Amino acid sequence: MPVTIQTLPAEVINLIAAGEVIDSIAAAVRELVENSLDAGATRIVVSVWPEQWRVQVADNGTGMDLENLQQAAEPHSTSKITTEADLYKIATLGFRGEALHSLA
Ligand SMILES: Nc1ncnc2c1ncn2[C@@H]1O[C@H](COP(=O)(O)OP(=O)(O)OP(=O)(O)O)[C@@H](O)[C@H]1O
Ligand SMILES: [Mg+2]
Repeated sequence: MPVTIQTLPAEVINLIAAGEVIDSIAAAVRELVENSLDAGATRIVVSVWPEQWRVQVADNGTGMDLENLQQAAEPHSTSKITTEADLYKIATLGFRGEALHSLA
């Protein structure tokens, strides 16, 4: 019997992984609002254009500079944990460093 099992191409693997985090507009909004809350926001404005699959979340939290924004779009990039031990004392809504990369 011929071997038909193959490792998927990297771009397909990335899309499947992203789809596990962002599978709907609601999931995108949830991730962005969780980030706003983790950033200490007390005012969050959510705008949604569902027909264009467009979402905008604005907040008055800590914000970030351009360098951090570019890093945030990389896989497994977070400011919320750094070590394995941190996994046992999570104090934020997010910690995987995957949401913005999945959105990107
Ligand atoms: N609204 C925001 N205000 C300030 N910093 C933000 C905001 N959204 C994201 N960030 C920064 O970008 C990083 C990456 O965000 P992302 O949502 O991808 O990961 P995360 O929140 O750390 O983990 P998770 O994937 O579980 O949500 C965050 O760790 C945070 O430092
Ligand atoms: Mg997050």
